[in-house]
Amino acid sequence: MALVPYTENSLPALSKLHNSSAHFRFADHDVRLSQDWKKLGVAAVVWDAAVVMCMYLEMGQVELRGKVAIELGAGTGLVGIVAALLGATVTITDRQPALDFLSANVKANLPPDSQGSAVVSELTWGESLDRYPAGGFDLVLGADIVYLEDTFVPLLQTLEHLCSDTSVVLLACKIRYERDTNFLNMLKQRFRTEEVYYDKQRDIHVYKAWKLPPRSDL
Ligand SMILES: C[S@@+](CC[C@H](N)C(=O)[O-])C[C@H]1O[C@@H](n2cnc3c(N)ncnc32)[C@H](O)[C@@H]1O
Repeated sequence: MALVPYTENSLPALSKLHNSSAHFRFADHDVRLSQDWKKLGVAAVVWDAAVVMCMYLEMGQVELRGKVAIELGAGTGLVGIVAALLGATVTITDRQPALDFLSANVKANLPPDSQGSAVVSELTWGESLDRYPAGGFDLVLGADIVYLEDTFVPLLQTLEHLCSDTSVVLLACKIRYERDTNFLNMLKQRFRTEEVYYDKQRDIHVYKAWKLPPRSDL
């Protein structure tokens, strides 16, 4: 996967990405995720945005129990796993090369009675979207998925496809470059967007978005 934006040990703060596992406690469960930066790069490590998203989900501001959710660009699957532990039925997605690693992490971290609450599935933004029901999700989750300018248009198309008028999108974002705000501006053309949480220590913003009604331009 040619998606590695950092060289190894370029910054001390990123050294945790090179650990072979990451451990968290969310939703009264220990979550232990394998990481493999060398093999899969960005898709096989846990990013701060995922941790902050899980903290936000645990706060209970968004109802998860009984909801149908989908996670985009799931990487190791932390967000989808925690959403399932908090009561949602979750489709946890990423690109094809990330799926075996993702599936193993999901399987290892859901107790037997929650295994049926999560499925892992391929979703490359903007591609074969008809495999997923249009407007079929109560909640669309994404952590640190706004970082590749080439993907901004297909990512927005994907959000539009998956959301109904009542769906909620939650994006946890690290704004690294000015171009990242371009995506937020694009999102605001189609979705009402609010910042609902900011983690100062990790510099992660959580945005909540709802689809705007279709414009009736005359
Ligand atoms: C920075 S990682 C974030 C992973 C995880 N959400 C987290 O926060 O720990 C970005 C993720 O987006 C996925 N991704 C990148 N481009 C994608 C695309 N075009 N379609 C689907 N997923 C993509 C990568 O495979 C990777 O898992």
